[in-house]
Amino acid sequence: MCGIFGYCGKKKAAPFLVEGLRRLEYRGYDSFGIAVSNQGITVRKREGKISLGGADLARVKGTMGIGHTRWATHGVPNDQNAHPHLDCQGTIAVVHNGIIENYAALKRELQDRGHEFRSETDTEVIPHLIEEAFRGDLAAAVGEVIPRLEGSYALLVIAAGCTEMVAVRQKSPLVLGVGDRAFLAASDVTPILEHTERVIFLEDGDIATLSTRGIEIQHGGTGVERPVQRIDWSLAEVKKGGFPHYMQKEIYEQPEVFSLTTRALRGEETPAVLQGIRGVTLVACGTSFNAALLCRYLIEEYCGIPARVELASEFKYYTPPGDYLVVGVSQSGETADTLAAIEKARMHNHPTLAVTNVLGSTITRLADHTLYMRAGPEISVAATKSFIAELAVFFHLVDHLSEGALESSLSTGHLAIGEALLQDLSPAVDLCRDARSMFFVGRGPFYPLALEGALKMKEISYIHAEGYAAGEIKHGPFALLCPDTPVVALCPPGQAFPVMFSNIREMKARGTPMIVIGAEGNQDLQEVSDVFIPLPGGGLVSHVLASTALLQLLAYHTAVALGRDVDQPRNLAKSVTVE
Ligand code: AGP
Repeated sequence: MCGIFGYCGKKKAAPFLVEGLRRLEYRGYDSFGIAVSNQGITVRKREGKISLGGADLARVKGTMGIGHTRWATHGVPNDQNAHPHLDCQGTIAVVHNGIIENYAALKRELQDRGHEFRSETDTEVIPHLIEEAFRGDLAAAVGEVIPRLEGSYALLVIAAGCTEMVAVRQKSPLVLGVGDRAFLAASDVTPILEHTERVIFLEDGDIATLSTRGIEIQHGGTGVERPVQRIDWSLAEVKKGGFPHYMQKEIYEQPEVFSLTTRALRGEETPAVLQGIRGVTLVACGTSFNAALLCRYLIEEYCGIPARVELASEFKYYTPPGDYLVVGVSQSGETADTLAAIEKARMHNHPTLAVTNVLGSTITRLADHTLYMRAGPEISVAATKSFIAELAVFFHLVDHLSEGALESSLSTGHLAIGEALLQDLSPAVDLCRDARSMFFVGRGPFYPLALEGALKMKEISYIHAEGYAAGEIKHGPFALLCPDTPVVALCPPGQAFPVMFSNIREMKARGTPMIVIGAEGNQDLQEVSDVFIPLPGGGLVSHVLASTALLQLLAYHTAVALGRDVDQPRNLAKSVTVE
């Protein structure tokens, strides 16, 4: 996810662009840049965080400009890959948030026609396409190019000699601000609120033209009116998109994150390291370990090859079978234990694959190849949307290795998450908030989810919680069951349902408060539950995704009820860069 910002008015644009990008930095911060229209187009861009080094950009002259703060998806963070991107003549500048899925074919086509490219990004195809279509009317040229782009994009475009800025929205958010003799465009309202509370939310397919004369919006070739709305949020709230915590915002971003990650991977070539593998060893820590453990179940169930999962911190004490592919899973790409595990795998000549959310992170430079999540920056220490993005990568991997076993369910996964987010969990929270200790139990792929639910609960509510394989709970932990030790049981429909149902009744018989996340409409299951939370319809993928969202929300609301510091829990860091 990236942040884009544009200003068009009577004052010098550059200072507004710098401040606007600083307000959007939470959307992405590995590089930044601005383009301002004056005699030509002046561009200033580089790697790094604008809040740490963008002051000099404010000196650029001109009263109309665009800016970008980046969360790299194609092309590592460096000066060349920073936005804005230009056409061959350097007279058309574009900033972009989203993914152009068909960029590779477009790039080859443009290069065959002699266009020179300066970056590795998908975005750079856009100014070159506009260059070919431009005959003096920038909005018309942009309108001609848009049908050729596949994927998601919010664009801002300016051109030398043109007095208008063009803004386009397609599956990536874009908001316009209506100020006093100034008009703005931004990825969200955060930077706009500085100037005005009057905003226009563009819709997919809208092409807006901003100039000192005002705003015109086209949709499907005809002029449209979009309502001017009044935002009454405070700036502090808006940075979190109106959510009280980044964690909740990131939980609610998960439908978009799952779709974006799945769509992006579908458009990418399969890494050579995946050809003809005889087995897989996944190494990771924390939430990423839980995602890797779930992947193991899917690989062995659907792909017919052996899969192992090792805690990265334990991997250093033994060596896996020689010809296994070693997969390092790390949202940050900087977790010391996981990096050490990949380095050891390389020393033993294993092929290596990284799964990460951060382009240019250390793990991407150690592994033979990388599969990227598209979760955007995850600000809250507790991993939520990055877990969903890891699942999206693993579903894609399993679907590829099994030649399509999961395909049909991947395109609707975001709906299952969205349905789960609508559930009212307050009865379950009431049972958890006073717990002395908790257990989370599940079977098969829902055992890793039980581990993840327990991890979320303990790391943000500080309630001691253990994740357990449901079949193991009778081998000792039963001694701990009592009325103030609630159990969260994952009991979806499927092969394990009958024995899982028995496990729930055994725990219930010992006076344990039972919170059950299970098959909707199952009367017996509801009767044995103290709190029953229904899963949406669908198959394994939908149930895994919905259960994940429910477990995250249960931990979140319990922590809020207990007044915890949800986004920055005590003693924790977002990335553990020491062993
Ligand atoms: C989970 O909520 C924690 N933030 C933590 O367990 C995290 O998953 C772990 O430190 C691994 O981080 P990584 O994915 O960046 O390697």
